[in-house]
Parts: sequence; C-alpha cells; structure tokens
Amino acid sequence: MTDLVLVLGALAAAAAGLWAWRRYHPVSFWYGVAFPARAVLVYLTWHHVASGCKLTRNRRRFRLTLDAIPVMGPASRSAATVVEHKRRVRRIDVERSPRLGLLRPTRLGWRMRLRLHDGQVPADYEKAAEGIAHAWRVHAVRVVDVRPGYVTLWATMRDPLIDVVTTPETGDLLTVRPGKLENGRDWVIDFRTVPHWLNAGATQSGKSNLANAIIKALAPQPVALVGFDLKGGVEFTPYAPRLSALATTRKESVDLLSDLVGEVEARMAVCRAHGARNVWTLPEHLQPVPVVVLVDEVAELFLMADKSEKDEVTRTATALLRVAQLGRAFAVHLIVCGQRIGSDLGPGVTALRAQLSGRVCHRVNDPETANMTLGDLDPAALDAARAIPAETPGVCVVAGQDGSWHRARSVYVPEHSAEQAARDHAHLTPDWDALISSVPTVGPDWPEAA
Ligand SMILES: Nc1ncnc2c1ncn2[C@@H]1O[C@H](COP(=O)(O)OP(=O)(O)OP(=O)(O)O)[C@@H](O)[C@H]1O
Ligand SMILES: [Mg+2]
Repeated sequence: MTDLVLVLGALAAAAAGLWAWRRYHPVSFWYGVAFPARAVLVYLTWHHVASGCKLTRNRRRFRLTLDAIPVMGPASRSAATVVEHKRRVRRIDVERSPRLGLLRPTRLGWRMRLRLHDGQVPADYEKAAEGIAHAWRVHAVRVVDVRPGYVTLWATMRDPLIDVVTTPETGDLLTVRPGKLENGRDWVIDFRTVPHWLNAGATQSGKSNLANAIIKALAPQPVALVGFDLKGGVEFTPYAPRLSALATTRKESVDLLSDLVGEVEARMAVCRAHGARNVWTLPEHLQPVPVVVLVDEVAELFLMADKSEKDEVTRTATALLRVAQLGRAFAVHLIVCGQRIGSDLGPGVTALRAQLSGRVCHRVNDPETANMTLGDLDPAALDAARAIPAETPGVCVVAGQDGSWHRARSVYVPEHSAEQAARDHAHLTPDWDALISSVPTVGPDWPEAA
C-alpha cells in the first residue's frame, strides 16, 4: 500500500514538474521533451502516414522461400503422403515509403528530408502536405527545399503568424522588416533586390498597416518618401513631416508624376555620362537619394468621372508605368496598394502590374484579385491567399520575383506609431524641389555622408 502511494506520489510530482517546465520554459521543454517524443512518433508512423497519403511505391522483390510440397509415397497406394521441402524463388510486392532522413528540430516544429521515389516530383508532396499535417495533428506541413531527388518538409506545431513580433531594423539602406514569414524568419523587403511592390487585398485586410510598417522602417533611413493618396489625403497627410511630396488630387498627381519621370530621366543621364548601368555603380558622391513612392488605392488614379478626365488619366497611367519601367535602375521604387488591380481599370494597369515584381496578397473577397496578384505563380500560393480568414488582418501571401512564396504577417503598426516616426525623423526629409532641381548627391545631413 505504501509502495503504491509512493509510486503515485512520484508520478504526480513528475507530471507537475513537466507541466511547470512546459509552462515556464517552453523552449527548453520543446527541445528536451516534446520534440524527442514527436520524433519517435514520426518515425513509428511514417510508413502508415505515407501509405495513407499515397506516397508509397510497390517494389518488386524476389524472395527465397522454403515450400512444403506433398508427394505420394512411392510404395504405397494409400492416402498417406510424404512432405518434401523445396526451395523456390518467389516474386512479391513490398510497399516502400520514401526514405525519411534525420528529423531536425526548429523553434516551431521540425524539418525532415525525404528521398523521392523514382517518378515522384515535389508537387506530389505539396499535394500530400495537408494530409500529413492532419495525420500528425500539426498546424501545417510545407515543402521548403527541393534538391534533385530530395524534398525537405517543414512541419509547424502552431501558426507562427498569430503573434508577430519582429526583430529590430538593421538600418540597411532600402531594407525593411515589416513582419514575419510563416517559417519563423523575418520578412525582409529589400528594394534593391525587388524594386517595386504590389500590395493588394480586400478592405480591412491590412494593406495600410503594411504601408505604415514600411513608412516607419524607412523614416530613419536616408531616403525620400513620396505619397499619392487620392482618398482626399486622409491616409498619408499625417505622415507629411517625413514626406518629400504628397499628391492628394488628380491634378497634383499628374504634376508629381511628371516630376518623378523627369527625375528618373536626369538620373539616367548621369549614369550614361559615367558609363554606369545603375545608380549603385556610380561613384559614391554621385549616388542620388533613393525615392520610395507609396500609392494608396491605385484605382483612384485610374477612375474617370467623365470624359474630360480621360486625358489626365492617360497621362497618369503612362507616367506611372514609365516610373515603374525605368525606376528600378535609378533608385525610384514603387509600392502600389489597391483592392483590385485589374484590366477593368484601363489598359495601362496590366502593364503596370507586370512591372511590380514583388507581390503581397492580403485576404481577398474574390478569386480574381488573388489571381491578378499571384496568378503567374504556383497555384498553391493562390489557394493560400484565398484561405486567409477575416479574423487575421495583416496575414498575406508574399512573393518575390524568383517565384518563391510564403505566408506572412505584417507587424501591427498603429497609425500613431508611424506618425510619431514621421515626426521624429522629419529633419531627414529631403526637400523635393531641391531634389528634382539638381541630380542629388548624398546630403551632408545623412550619417553615411559624414
Ligand atoms: N498585421 C496586423 N496585425 C494585427 N492587426 C492588424 C494588422 N494589420 C491590420 N490590422 C487591423 O486591421 C485593421 C484594418 O487594417 P488596414 O487599415 O491596414 O486595412 P486596409 O486593407 O488598408 O483597409 P482599407 O482598404 O479599408 O483601407 C487595422 O485597423 C488593424 O486593427
Ligand atoms: Mg487602407
């Protein structure tokens, strides 16, 4: 009796200890207890799971068997038989699962490498990923790395996009970290790698929050910020202290866009004179201030109330397209936000969209918008965008120009926080007239110029 009480007491103490470990130090609990237990489960169930998800293959094998063959006894006509054992080679089918490599723990789950069977392609595993996730009761399983003959699957125990906290900005020029990717890494937007971005999504899906995050991150950097806000300026006017120029009417937009085209052409002339292909290969003292142009609700730029506006709309569309086409080499970058960016807005829009190689698709109400934003990518990216629920604003599918895509979420940046950043760094705002009147060099106020 006392022994039983002692055993029960020890079990209760161990359970309480594990609970406290998990509660107060989840990271070490995961690596020390939960992951090893998971790994055992994964190895034990892999064959069964692979078979259920149709990832196994039948392999033909030849096996030597010892068969008992009844033979009639030679001296007897009776029913008595003699059993003779004969060796035979038999052909049998064996179900083989893809070979599973070593499981490597990550902060939110684990990675595992699989060897493809002959004839299998990574898409087979993408199709099976949801089934595997359900079988192992994890949040998601994704194909994250493909090498010839191998795929790496990444399993996550819970959605990393529920609470998004980013690492501090590094301050690298034209690089911002507006949120987190689903793989737990920082979402990095580097305008020097992907120069222009399309930021699409339904109303209240998180487009302006992403713009806020970008403005807040760029405010301390030596860049000129320019805004187009035809919703009467309500979105961007609070950031005016850090904006070098802001257009809130169509007339202002036409003028500002013609300034931008002129600026791009001037930079192009300087590059030509110095035999440089882009501004980054110019001598350092000639490198101009990068310009980041934010357009909120791009449809407003293209909408026509009556025919009298047609000329202005055409000029706007042409100028915006020129900035997009030429700006990439001359440090003029675009972030175009909108609910729908389709050909229904006019002929120039499709060409503009093609120039915006960085894509962010927030929650959408209609499949066409997801199609317009991500249509030229993997169909799985479209499915992921269409599955974003309304209760998680800021969650989006991000795709760069290399075709890879990720689920991501911007960090929540309330307006007042971005406004504060704009005020705090107002002294870094380049003067627009000075910027366009001469091809600017890095100014004396920038820390880098010192
Ligand atoms: N990353 C995020 N994390 C948490 N909440 C967010 C995030 N992004 C947006 N939200 C919430 O969603 C609300 C709507 O976001 P936002 O204003 O960015 O949407 P929008 O797409 O710009 O909408 P609209 O088209 O109406 O301008 C915000 O007020 C904020 O409360
Ligand atoms: Mg908005």
